[in-house]
Amino acid sequence: MASTLKCLSVLVLAFLVIDAANGQGLKLGFYAKTCPNAESIIHKTVASYVSYNPTFPAALLRMHFHDCFVRGCDGSVLLNSTSTNQTEKAAIPNLSLRGFSIIDAAKAAVEKACPGVVSCADILALSARDSVAMIKGPWWNVPTGRRDGRVSTIADAFIHLPPPFFNVTQLKASFASKGLNAKDLAVLSGGHTIGISACASFSQRLYNFTGKGDSDPSLDSEYVPRLKSKCKPNDIVTTAEMDPGSFKTFDSSYYKIVAKRRGLFTSDATLLDDAETKAYVRSQATNNGPTFFKDFAVSMEKMNAIEVLTGNAGEIRKHCAFVN
Ligand code: HEM
Ligand SMILES: *[C@@H]1O[C@H](CO)[C@@H](O)[C@H](O)[C@H]1NC(C)=O
Ligand SMILES: *[C@@H]1O[C@H](CO)[C@@H](O)[C@H](O)[C@H]1NC(C)=O
Ligand SMILES: *[C@@H]1O[C@H](CO)[C@@H](O)[C@H](O)[C@H]1NC(C)=O
Ligand SMILES: *[C@@H]1O[C@H](CO)[C@@H](O)[C@H](O)[C@H]1NC(C)=O
Ligand SMILES: *[C@@H]1O[C@H](CO)[C@@H](O)[C@H](O)[C@H]1NC(C)=O
Repeated sequence: MASTLKCLSVLVLAFLVIDAANGQGLKLGFYAKTCPNAESIIHKTVASYVSYNPTFPAALLRMHFHDCFVRGCDGSVLLNSTSTNQTEKAAIPNLSLRGFSIIDAAKAAVEKACPGVVSCADILALSARDSVAMIKGPWWNVPTGRRDGRVSTIADAFIHLPPPFFNVTQLKASFASKGLNAKDLAVLSGGHTIGISACASFSQRLYNFTGKGDSDPSLDSEYVPRLKSKCKPNDIVTTAEMDPGSFKTFDSSYYKIVAKRRGLFTSDATLLDDAETKAYVRSQATNNGPTFFKDFAVSMEKMNAIEVLTGNAGEIRKHCAFVN
């Protein structure tokens, strides 16, 4: 009896700890009194950028994912390196760098209205959501009240960000370490329905998969020549659309592509190697992805709460690229 009780209390404690780590202290409209126009100012700023470049939502969505997976959604991805510190930014391929000016612009606009109130971490979470909705994507809730972290290191990024060559076992472990399950993995990978990738992120699958000049057998052999004509060996400048034809529109066609074995990364292809993720890919590859948008919203609400700093933790940065 006593040991059952002890077991139970350990269980309850475990739940409390997970809860405290993920999302506690956030609430919808956190700035309603302290900066009532914050969300609309951010929305307007993001809209002005997306209207002239519809590939910005991809940059912001990816940046948000990277932020949340490394030290939680605390804006640490936004911090610039200094002479003594190489930050997360230094670990991220150049492509992602293009979204930072949007966050800086939104922060500047919000600071003008209410100095020192709205965190960079919240601005990034809201911007990612708003920008995806602007290209016909789903809408999800972004409870606010995140605080900004003071630490960002290149080593953390390498440890916590899953690389494109991970298989499904490794991906599931990576997501589980952030409180996300196999379904979340299958759903959030659908973020690859927008955006571009450097050839370098997948060219090993085309040219030298096992070191014998071969290509990855899990990649559609009819698709390989097309990718090869776009991406020459050792090309580090060219990019490819992840969802050719609709890479600027958030839709469910990612799942059709993966089902056809045309996902660009091993991390996409490998969703067919696990019963649960495979079933999800199959289910969303037909009939315009019957539940993808709803599922994406649910998983994004889990992702945007990972290990957040709230209350008196962290700080509200004055400039998103620097700690105060
Ligand atoms: C499952 C593990 C994941 C892996 C291994 C992965 C890997 C990658 C890689 C290698 C790129 C191309 C980067 C480059 O070449 O510079 C990329 C791009 C992208 N990823 Fe992922 N990703 C993962 C999950 C996610 C998630 C969860 C999201 C969001 C929900 C996401 C959203 C994006 C977007 C939107 C882009 C395009 C960025 C752009 O156009 O600038 N990814 N990802
Ligand atoms: C931060 O670094 C980026 C390059 O990573 C650079 O473009 C930007 O100007 C820097 N921001 C500031 C405010 O110095
Ligand atoms: C990023 O771009 C700069 C200049 O264009 C280049 O020197 C650097 O090697 C690139 N870094 C990566 C990781 O591709
Ligand atoms: C710089 O690195 C030190 C130790 O490596 C760390 O304590 C400090 O928080 C870092 N600064 C930032 C801005 O990450
Ligand atoms: C993934 O890779 C790990 C380590 O290399 C291996 O143990 C595991 O069996 C692999 N899983 C699949 C599904 O290939
Ligand atoms: C392919 O990989 C093997 C083993 O890593 C290496 O020896 C060889 O030089 C590579 N070939 C090319 C064309 O990169």
